[in-house]
Amino acid sequence: MEAQIQTLKKQLLAAERVAVMTGAGISAESGVPTFRGADGLWKNYRAVDLATPEAFDRNPRLVWEFYNWRRALISKLTFNAAHAALVKLETKVPSFTLITQNVDGLHNRAGSRNLLEIHGNLWQVRCLQCQEIILDESPDMGELPTCEQCGSLLRPNVVWFGESLDQATLNRAMQACRDCEIMLVIGTSAIVQPAASLALEAKQGGAVVAEINIEQTPHSYFMDYTFQGKAGEIVPRLVEDWK
Ligand code: OAD
Ligand code: ZN
Repeated sequence: MEAQIQTLKKQLLAAERVAVMTGAGISAESGVPTFRGADGLWKNYRAVDLATPEAFDRNPRLVWEFYNWRRALISKLTFNAAHAALVKLETKVPSFTLITQNVDGLHNRAGSRNLLEIHGNLWQVRCLQCQEIILDESPDMGELPTCEQCGSLLRPNVVWFGESLDQATLNRAMQACRDCEIMLVIGTSAIVQPAASLALEAKQGGAVVAEINIEQTPHSYFMDYTFQGKAGEIVPRLVEDWK
């Protein structure tokens, strides 16, 4: 693994265009629970039973309780060495795009600039009626938060299961993956579409692709590098000693 880290590090230093895709695994060491981890997500619910438009229609109180729990939890946490290493990488690479499936906002807090949050952001809310998007970082939005403009119910501005991603954001992500010379895929189970297809896009476009994950994934077989280990330990090593 050591030799491979050194080789990839050199390739990164020479690259003009780098894309990075992250999933819940990059925030695991910050204390954010992953979606498909052993301990379940919240109470006895699975993410697919809460993070859907149907669940919100049926029981908005329950869904808001879940999001308030996540807000309270994440507001106490901070970004880790892997998030910070990606900020450093961005400063060295002429064209750098960070695509994240995470809604926790930790890349943003770490200082990443060219960031595509393709599943939205937990700290934004959206009015069901006027569609206004508001940034509200309070750790508790209350039982049923409403819009100050029109009084309608607010929802988290995240992409739920069964909803489509913002097309313009997804197009930018696709383009970055197609055009890059190197793509890093960090801490994602690589099973949720269309996010999961982005690494394949990069590979087909001729990029060197590298996976950093504590486990094998359905994408491991086509990776040029698979680093099995924690993001917080491996990602910083890729930018170690860079000026
Ligand atoms: P998952 O929970 O499916 O996968 C987390 C991945 O991170 C797994 O492959 C773990 O092996 C890996 N992992 C855990 N700890 C790690 C660590 N310290 N270092 C490196 N890797 C680690 O999360 P995602 O792939 O992000 O969608 O899930 C994708 C989407 O499904 C989420 O964005 C969310 C979810 O439902 C929406 O909310 C729309
Ligand atoms: Zn409104």
